[in-house]
Amino acid sequence: MARETLPATISSPTDAASTGKDASSQLNRSFDRRSLLKGLGIVGAAVSVGSLLAPEADADSSGGGITHGDAAILRFLAAAEILETDLWQQYNELGGIQDSEVPGGSGSPAYTAAISQLDGDMAQYIHDNTEDELTHELFINAYLVSKGASPVNLDQFRTLPSSNASGAQQIGRLTNLMQLSPDTTWWTRYRSRSGNPDLGDNFPPAIPSLAVGQHPAIPRTDDDLADPNFLQAIANTAGFHFATIEQGGTSLYPKVAQRVSSVEVLRIVLSIGGTEISHFQTWSDKAGNAPPLTAVDPVTGVSVTFPDLNSSPLGGEDFQTNLIMPEPTAFLSRNLPACSIIRPTATQGAAMGALAGLTADGLFIGQAPAFFHFMRELATAADNARRGG
Ligand SMILES: [Fe+2]
Ligand SMILES: [Fe+2]
Repeated sequence: MARETLPATISSPTDAASTGKDASSQLNRSFDRRSLLKGLGIVGAAVSVGSLLAPEADADSSGGGITHGDAAILRFLAAAEILETDLWQQYNELGGIQDSEVPGGSGSPAYTAAISQLDGDMAQYIHDNTEDELTHELFINAYLVSKGASPVNLDQFRTLPSSNASGAQQIGRLTNLMQLSPDTTWWTRYRSRSGNPDLGDNFPPAIPSLAVGQHPAIPRTDDDLADPNFLQAIANTAGFHFATIEQGGTSLYPKVAQRVSSVEVLRIVLSIGGTEISHFQTWSDKAGNAPPLTAVDPVTGVSVTFPDLNSSPLGGEDFQTNLIMPEPTAFLSRNLPACSIIRPTATQGAAMGALAGLTADGLFIGQAPAFFHFMRELATAADNARRGG
């Protein structure tokens, strides 16, 4: 087996000290990444090449170490978790609970109230999802380092603007929540009793107009708080985006698990992946509570309609809002009996597919070409990983 003893060519330049320093240091302070990592012998992600080349990092001499393939999979997952943390942090600053567990920001009462229309506990759930992603990110990177493999650092790409609405921190971001086109086909995909994307099936979106034009999921400025109907449209967009993000993680983990080599890495992937499912299940329930409305963005002129998913011409098996348990559907072969499953789970192109999906949703609008290049290299390496290699 090829062991992970050298920093891969895709490893981060780790020169966060010279680029995006202010933004990254603020975020690091917020989450106290440094003290968390210090205990593990890591400061940030600036692991020296020397430490990565140390003989004790070699699996064959220490009993530790992981394959190049496992390291590549974990690195892509670490990057995905860093991106998740970044976006959830933005939601938490404005619509969650800002506390010692998830510091940063001071909240937007009007936005928080609009989100609470989907469930009175939304602020707590946003907070907890944010904290979960941070721990995923920190754990995977720390595990990589503990095995002598290089971690992932995206600090140089924290260049996107923050919301100017009151309550948001003014720091550089990795993700853009103000120009989203969320894909909501997961709604009908998980309600279908016969279709499976792994068998070539396609599914209609629950909210077709969200996929047309660009929609803010957080207030861009305090002006976005003025019209209660438009503010609710922003909150509804967030509500559906939450589930869009977490269904992606729900599929990504089982997809890559099929090409993991070590049982311990498999344990990590299965255990973290399970919480992505937990998130998705929660958000898919809450999205169904989004108040039906039509609103026009006063800045862009883009329209969005959240239909009543329980009434004609919608409703029924494909749209009814309380059908949140995954319906049994075709799995592996249409000759086998229907089964209630995560879908899709085909492993080929898993990482690149996840990256393409996030990109298509508008999450990275404004990011530099170098960001996409870096992420594509991580995804390619993860998709090239094979069991035992
Ligand atoms: Fe996560
Ligand atoms: Fe997640």
